[in-house]
Amino acid sequence: MQQPQDGNPTPEHSENPPSAQSELCMSPELMLDLARKSAELLVERIENVPMRDAWDGDFREALEHKLMEDPPEDGRPGAEVLEQVARDILPYALRLDHPKCFAFVPSAPTWPGILADFLAAGYNINQATWLVASGASQLELVVLDWIRCWLGYPEEAGGLLTSGGSAASVDAFVAAREAAGNPERSTVYMSDQSHSAFIRAAMIVGVRRECVRIVPCDESFRMDMKALERAVAKDRATGFNPIAICANAGATATGAIDPIDAMANYCESQGIWLHVDAAYGGFAIITEEGQKLFRGIERADSVGLDAHKWLFQPYEVGCLLVKDLRTLEDPFSVRPDFLQDVVWGSKHPNFTDRGLQLSRSFRALKIWMSIQTFGMAAFRRAVARGMELAARAEDYVRASPVLEIMSPASLGVVGLRFNPKAADLGEDTLDAINKTVLTRIFWEDNAFISSALPKGKFSLRLCIINHNTTWEDVSETLEAIERFGNETLSTV
Ligand SMILES: Cc1ncc(COP(=O)(O)O)c(C=O)c1O
Repeated sequence: MQQPQDGNPTPEHSENPPSAQSELCMSPELMLDLARKSAELLVERIENVPMRDAWDGDFREALEHKLMEDPPEDGRPGAEVLEQVARDILPYALRLDHPKCFAFVPSAPTWPGILADFLAAGYNINQATWLVASGASQLELVVLDWIRCWLGYPEEAGGLLTSGGSAASVDAFVAAREAAGNPERSTVYMSDQSHSAFIRAAMIVGVRRECVRIVPCDESFRMDMKALERAVAKDRATGFNPIAICANAGATATGAIDPIDAMANYCESQGIWLHVDAAYGGFAIITEEGQKLFRGIERADSVGLDAHKWLFQPYEVGCLLVKDLRTLEDPFSVRPDFLQDVVWGSKHPNFTDRGLQLSRSFRALKIWMSIQTFGMAAFRRAVARGMELAARAEDYVRASPVLEIMSPASLGVVGLRFNPKAADLGEDTLDAINKTVLTRIFWEDNAFISSALPKGKFSLRLCIINHNTTWEDVSETLEAIERFGNETLSTV
């Protein structure tokens, strides 16, 4: 097979395409060559991530200059396209898998998981129905069953893998709304720590924005049960219809865990759907500590967890499980005539009957391949280490003369701020100093952190859930916060 010559304007892929193949095909040699180059690029990147800064990015004008153009009428060599991708596009991103990336909810995917996405795309699996993807469907059942057992859910439980926590929340609210009989004037309840995805999901399923009740939290960022009960009672008395209550099993800002067991008691007594948002924190359930922290989770009507967060998978893979699978399949099973051939009976589920997507990627493969390759013990240790590092960070902060804990370590998240005990600084000054610290970490340090507002106060937030993060990565970042804080203070 003739290889394209450098400088040859003829697009490589149309050069000697195997007879009877379209212009959009490539020869096997070229496919392998590009795949090899892509794999080399990825391995080199992964090896070098710790040596780079956690963040890279640019302003729109600069990126527009590089990238904004009409689609070319004729193609160019794939290797050249790949080079541009590696140079002009992919590096401009937060390196969420950097061991010092502590912002938002970082993620560090395993290599088998990455390969699984490549394989799933290459095999062109559409994981919508059993007929079209039986192997993939069976594997999704296997992975869902693993998660079901981790949660302690009964056999009648089931669900699906979703694009992430946001999609899971929409599917959960559909199930909740239908279980409640799809009433008029519906309301949902969540704490002031709940993720914004739930406000959006509520509106998507038809709950009016003003009917999303945000319930205050106690001192520990946990749902105030009395306030919840008051809100529900008031709504019932004034003709509103509660359809769901959301509990956090790892609130994004603070890692807080709501009193799930007490909420389950209350929801059962009131006949209201309980959804547990365990999107980022949920996979702590595979550890002994997590089992204790999430006591009562198996009583929830539904639980959402994201494997692309603390189960070390590439985006996008979340999961929704409902305690009774019928509550999901009843509302979502819609059978158009053009899909009449895919009905193989209840033993052969069509995952499209469980959520909002018809065409679906094969998400189970990455979880399955990663766990088969490394084993659960390794995953358990990796999740447990995140929690240990956050607890150690809290100890460091408490022992530091210039740092203050803003939210204690919970599920890998810890909140802190620069606040020298000797200085007696006012809130405005503290806000200003800590915002400067955040900015200086961003521009001058190789770490990347984000901020939150626990109890309305500006706080630096570390989410320590990367399996590659060491104590040195954490302590160096805390030292940088102390240093930038002291330097800023000396200029105030
Ligand atoms: C607690 C929680 N819930 C929901 C979400 C939304 O999940 P996703 O980004 O996968 O849609 C997140 C994302 O960080 C989260 O942390």
